[in-house]
Amino acid sequence: MATSAVAAPRVAAKLPAWLAAAMLAMPLAANAGDAENGEKLVGDKGCVACHLADGNSTAPTFPILAGQYEDYLVQALKQYRSGARQNAIMGASAINLTDQEIDDLAAWFSSQESVLQYAK
Ligand code: HEC
Repeated sequence: MATSAVAAPRVAAKLPAWLAAAMLAMPLAANAGDAENGEKLVGDKGCVACHLADGNSTAPTFPILAGQYEDYLVQALKQYRSGARQNAIMGASAINLTDQEIDDLAAWFSSQESVLQYAK
């Protein structure tokens, strides 16, 4: 028993190589978006009509995007674009977005302060 109590923390501290690699890759992907250009795209692409300029939509039918995780927003938009996530409005809104535009929009909305409450 004494040996396993000593060994356990060492095992926990050593991540498998694949997990360490995945964790290293994530911040790089999350930094790809240009929030300043994203702010411009919100108007140019018409997102503002439903989600508002900062993503704090006031209509319950339109999700609040402000403060959402950037990678969640990227994934949602890519799924609307590919049809993996089906919604007539968002499918039409996302179909012509480039990967870069999706990254920029996600960077903008995720950097905005949300009106939603967070657990502390
Ligand atoms: C005409 C209104 C409308 C416009 C314009 C619009 N959206 Fe949406 N958006 C919606 C609705 C409604 C949903 C919820 C769809 C669903 O249930 O999947 C949604 C969902 C989303 C989601 C997923 C949110 C979540 O929590 O999963 C993202 C991200 C998003 N919109 C981004 C955008 C972006 C970026 C644009 C501009 C390119 C845009 N939307 C334009 C109405 C709109």
